[in-house]
Amino acid sequence: MKESPQSLSYSQLGQRASEPVITDLMHRALENSELLSLAAGFTDNITLPVDLVRRALERLGNEMPGAEYLQYGTNRGRAGLLIEVANWLNASESEAAPEPFTAESVFISNGSQQALYLAMQSLCDAGDIILVQQPTYFVFLELCRGLGIRAVSLPALADGGTDFAALSEFFLKLKTEHGAARIKALYLNSYYGNPSSRSVPVEEKRALGRALLDHALHVPVIEDAAYRELWFDHPYPAPSVFSLPEFDSLPRLYLGTFTKPLATGLKVGYGVCSHPEWMGKMLSLKGHQDFGTPNFNQSLIENILAAGEYGPHLERVRANYGEKAKIMGVALEASPLRKLGWSWETPLGGLYYWLRGPEGLDLSIGSAFCEQAVREGVLYVPGDLCVAEGDPKNFARLSFGSLAKEKLAEATERFVRVAVAHG
Ligand SMILES: Cc1ncc(COP(=O)(O)O)c(C=O)c1O
Repeated sequence: MKESPQSLSYSQLGQRASEPVITDLMHRALENSELLSLAAGFTDNITLPVDLVRRALERLGNEMPGAEYLQYGTNRGRAGLLIEVANWLNASESEAAPEPFTAESVFISNGSQQALYLAMQSLCDAGDIILVQQPTYFVFLELCRGLGIRAVSLPALADGGTDFAALSEFFLKLKTEHGAARIKALYLNSYYGNPSSRSVPVEEKRALGRALLDHALHVPVIEDAAYRELWFDHPYPAPSVFSLPEFDSLPRLYLGTFTKPLATGLKVGYGVCSHPEWMGKMLSLKGHQDFGTPNFNQSLIENILAAGEYGPHLERVRANYGEKAKIMGVALEASPLRKLGWSWETPLGGLYYWLRGPEGLDLSIGSAFCEQAVREGVLYVPGDLCVAEGDPKNFARLSFGSLAKEKLAEATERFVRVAVAHG
């Protein structure tokens, strides 16, 4: 095709759009099989539900001869899947919502990523502020940047918890500088969060709810629970914001997904919203985008859940990631990294190790460390991408999600070699 010389006049959104770092990381990993990627958040092929999908497909063929599942579905999602999602949440041991979750407050999205976008589009204009944790999900930060939204980190302690002692001053400053009306929502990554694998303890969640109210910030709270199902030994005991009275008066959006725990390729997620009008707005935007998540993918998932096959599948998935976390942990502990001033917590679920390098070490994209890692044949996510303010730069996220077990130790050792070389 002949290249067009004409330069286009883009919208502000178009002008702000730049290739997400995640796409680049995914490309590099897929294109070069020699490169071992501890970067992209892919899941493990060996636990993708091939047999479950095959069986569900057979059942769909037998039970629904009209092939309705290959037809367009509805914008909000399949009625049966909405019920399955509500049932799934109601069955969670740690939930004790005053009212059970009902299908009416659930919608299905193209992964929880789409729901995040709908939430931001429906709430924020360019220049608005979203409160986030430090660190937080870097694709969410990119999404905000693309929309011209300013993500601002809550004051954080060294362990990633909220620094409540600094919170009042922080809120005061933010309100004085930008006006309270600019602060539009709190985004919480609360179960084995990306990138730190940290979960938010119930006392911290409650205190966050109280702090918002005490500072007259009656803003929506978006709880992203993308990794909640991926615990290793036992589920994280904190309930969601739907079960905590501190959040009763705040609009809440809880986001879950069937990608990481079931099949990333089906790309189906869900939202539960406490505020019907806000949910209506998000659904109108979804109508503009796609007027429905692929009905076929939803049918498969609905069928797997209805057959009671999701729970046993999750047990296999958890065992696999638990084992992989151990493999990476052993490789890290056997290395001289701790002696060299590196530190990390052992994850209890999720897909990531969050490594803190020595003070002053630069691990950002384009740094000597990062370039050497690529030459050494290993990719990681530079930690500064996961912090709204782009600093500190001495953190790295290592994912044990996608690499085969046999390759994990080798990839970790490659990373360690680079770290040792940088002393
Ligand atoms: C914290 C978090 N939220 C949301 C998502 C989006 O997931 P999906 O769209 O696959 O459901 C991801 C994916 O990596 C994530 O890490």
